[in-house]
Amino acid sequence: MRYKDVYEGWKADPEGFWMRAAEAVDWIEKPSRALDDSKAPFYRWFTDAVCNTCWNALDRHVAAGRADQAALIHDSAITGAKTTISYGELLARVARLAGALAARGVVKGDRVIIYMPMVPEAVEAMLACARIGAIHSVVFGGFAAHELAVRIDDCTPKAIIAASCGLEPGRVVHYKPLLDAAIDQARHKPEFCVVLQREQAPAALVEGRDFEWQAFQHGAEPAECVPLRGDDPLYILYTSGTTGQPKGVVRDNAGHMVALIWTMQNLYGVAPGEVFWAASDVGWVVGHSYIVYAPLLTGCTSIVFEGKPVGTPDAGTFWRVIAEHGVKVLFTAPTAFRAIKREDPAGDLIRKYDLSGFRTLFLAGERADPPTIAWAETHLGVPVIDHWWQTETGWAIAGNPIGIEHLPVKPGSPTVAMPGYEIRVLDDAGQPVPAGTLGAIAIKLPLPPGMAPTLWQADERFAKSYLETFPGYYETGDAGVIDADGYVSIMARTDDVINVAGHRLSTGAMEEVLAGHPDVAECAVIGVADQLKGQLPLGFVCLNAGCERPHDEIVGECVGRVRDRIGPVAAFKLALVVERLPKTRSGKILRATMVRIADGEDYKMPATIEDPAILDEIAAALARLGYPA
Ligand code: COA
Ligand code: AMP
Repeated sequence: MRYKDVYEGWKADPEGFWMRAAEAVDWIEKPSRALDDSKAPFYRWFTDAVCNTCWNALDRHVAAGRADQAALIHDSAITGAKTTISYGELLARVARLAGALAARGVVKGDRVIIYMPMVPEAVEAMLACARIGAIHSVVFGGFAAHELAVRIDDCTPKAIIAASCGLEPGRVVHYKPLLDAAIDQARHKPEFCVVLQREQAPAALVEGRDFEWQAFQHGAEPAECVPLRGDDPLYILYTSGTTGQPKGVVRDNAGHMVALIWTMQNLYGVAPGEVFWAASDVGWVVGHSYIVYAPLLTGCTSIVFEGKPVGTPDAGTFWRVIAEHGVKVLFTAPTAFRAIKREDPAGDLIRKYDLSGFRTLFLAGERADPPTIAWAETHLGVPVIDHWWQTETGWAIAGNPIGIEHLPVKPGSPTVAMPGYEIRVLDDAGQPVPAGTLGAIAIKLPLPPGMAPTLWQADERFAKSYLETFPGYYETGDAGVIDADGYVSIMARTDDVINVAGHRLSTGAMEEVLAGHPDVAECAVIGVADQLKGQLPLGFVCLNAGCERPHDEIVGECVGRVRDRIGPVAAFKLALVVERLPKTRSGKILRATMVRIADGEDYKMPATIEDPAILDEIAAALARLGYPA
């Protein structure tokens, strides 16, 4: 079968397509239909099915003879520890943790926040929640206490599962004080916390509230899988929107399983039993879908990697992991490759390892620049596949479905629409534009299984964020083009979201933090181009009249505030004090024009600009920081 036949087959009969895909799931009760449009434009999938995701990720494989196969290989390039956990062991561990949570009163529908680094226990915690129908919400370790507090208040968890610390190169990140501070700041208080004590930095526990990981599970009866409706939520994952209030993307059980299993075979070309590695973090959607759920649902071995592409200890780490553990497919962000390429431009470290079993490299999370793709292709000698998706969709919107057909690559394009997605480029009036014309990228409703049915307890926000601008479509927030062959290219975001080292961040959220500085009258944060991380945030602040404090001091405080409130992951290190911000006559800050100046690109003087001279002041201030770079 060719890609075109598969895609046209889906278009001709979407219901039949997804019902056939659904046969790959082990249902407690089979769905009678795929799409439920009874609450359109909120679409749900396989609503009358009864299922359990943990069953499909673990129990069914153990029953089918995979008990001794490795489910997870934990490889810490920071501590040097390597641990293999078989499907049989993982099932036993997950069932025991699930039993302990249930014994403490966690039931179907309760939320559980997970705040953990890249250790197998993080995966166990996610699956234990899935087993008893509790809704997990993993928070990335690079976020600060305030961000954790915001999430605690939004999803009101009954419990929080955390580790005492995470390990960054050369630095122990003490999670427990961050957790304590977050609970202090939050209005909602969890009933209890479970803390995995890591030997690098065990934490003090709060008597009566905190339980040590092992002690918590001591004597617990293993829990069975709880039957769930197809559209019961599996997890909430917060992602950046345009403000400081993150969006709680909800994922269901049934549609998510159907879609992810379909992708493993058809998009990634991976078979059960093979080793799959998504070098991301369980705190991101890539980690949810491709470190945890998709590989385990497929019966693959998944790598849980704690480390960085460079510096732990060198730019050969990825190749060591691939060679040592027999990885067939690697999925990572282009920024990781830019980092490796910078340290090892000739690819010398690649040749030190036997990569003969390695088959395909997938890139996503940010635009894959053609030089990086070319470097990876040359030095690895395998197909390098860019694919485009979002936290909201949970799996690729566009890609090159190597399991069906390896389509010709056009560097800079993540190739073509996956079945389930009818992608359109629209103009401001919502009309489709001709091939090759830049516009807003939208997807015709309904979106496929796996797509977020809504935001956590925020249907209205979901509708406003995604469904209102272009009625009948989902607004992706990305701008781009589709060429005459149907190849999609993603050029930029249409909102205040920036992409820093493959991490999705909100400039709006950073502006809220800067605006809270007592000396700041107004501010703007933009994303400037960066050779390594794709983009970096850069802040402009105007001071209150009469403020005579040294600018360096204020800049330092601004940088510190963003780190303290959002977290180190924001990588906010560039800020400037300016007299005025460029605005339109109606008072809108001209952020896009400032980006073009910082990136050294030509720009048109906006017709509605209040005072063109301010742009010269901005250019002069940027020049002092070395921009354009
Ligand atoms: N817990 C605590 N802090 C964290 C963290 C975590 N889980 N992850 C990152 N941080 C911190 C880092 O220590 C760093 O802090 P610093 O300012 O004190 O140095 C900051 O957040 C930024 O981290 P990072 O984005 O990792 O940048 P880096 O400069 O340390 O490394 C790269 C650069 C390119 C090597 C790194 O960004 C990378 O590997 N990127 C790939 C990203 C990826 O896989 N994205 C997932 C999408 S698929
Ligand atoms: P996240 O929700 O964190 O996965 O971020 C999603 C955003 O990252 C998208 O809306 C895009 O802006 C960007 N993105 C993800 N994958 C790609 C890609 N392959 N090419 C270009 N941009 C991408």
